[in-house]
Amino acid sequence: MIAPSILSADFANLAAESAAVAHPGSTRADWLHVDVMDAHFVPNLTLGLPVVESLLKATDIPLDCHLMIDDPKRWAPPYAEAGAYNVTFHAEATSDPVDVARDIRAAGAKAGLAIKPNTPLEPYLEILRDIDTLLVMSVEPGFGGQKFIAEVLEKVKIVRTIVDSSDLRLLVEIDGGINADTIEQAAEAGVDCFVAGSAVYGADDPGKAVAALREQAAT
Ligand code: DX5
Ligand code: ZN
Repeated sequence: MIAPSILSADFANLAAESAAVAHPGSTRADWLHVDVMDAHFVPNLTLGLPVVESLLKATDIPLDCHLMIDDPKRWAPPYAEAGAYNVTFHAEATSDPVDVARDIRAAGAKAGLAIKPNTPLEPYLEILRDIDTLLVMSVEPGFGGQKFIAEVLEKVKIVRTIVDSSDLRLLVEIDGGINADTIEQAAEAGVDCFVAGSAVYGADDPGKAVAALREQAAT
C-alpha cells in the first residue's frame, strides 16, 4: 500500500492535490497520509481537525492521520469521530497506549501506534493485539524530505516475523525518506504500507510516482 503524505503538498490546494492521486487504477493512493503536528511534540506546526474535516469531504481516499502531538488521549478520538480511517498516535506521547487505542477504536477508526527511530520496539510487542497499525518512523518526526534511517528496518523485520507466525492482522507502516532508492529495502524487511511525501508530491506527476513506488515495492 502507498500512502502519499500531504505534508509535501500545496496546503492551499489540498482538494486538487488529493485528486491527483485519486484516479482509479495503478496511480491511485491506498491511503492519504495527513501529518498533524502541534509544535510541542515536534518542532513544527501543520494542520488540525478542521482541515481534516474538509479533506474528508474533498476525497474518498481513506485518511491516515498521523498525530505528532502531546496528549493523544484528549485529541485523537475526534479524528476518528470525524471519519478518518486510521488514527495513529505516538508511543512517546502517552503512558497508556492501550487506553488511547481503545478510545480510537471505540470512536470508529483503526488505531495506529507510532514509534520514533530511537524508540525500542520491545515494550510494545505485548500490545500488538490492541492496535491495528504499527508505524515505524524512519526519520525523526517533524519534517518531510529527510534521509531514510535504514537501522529501523530491524524493528520492521521483528514485527513482520511475529505477525506472520500469528493470527494478528496488524499492518506495518513506514514513514520518512521513502523513495525510489529506499522502498525496496523497506519492502524486503516486510513493510505493508509506505508513506511517501516528497517522493510523491515533489514529482511532476504525483499519480505516476504512486504507481512507480507501488511497482518497486512489489518486485
Ligand atoms: C515526518 C512525517 C512524514 C513526512 C514524510 O514527520 O511524519 O509523513 O511527510 O516525508 P518524506 O516522505 O519526504 O520523508
Ligand atoms: Zn507522517
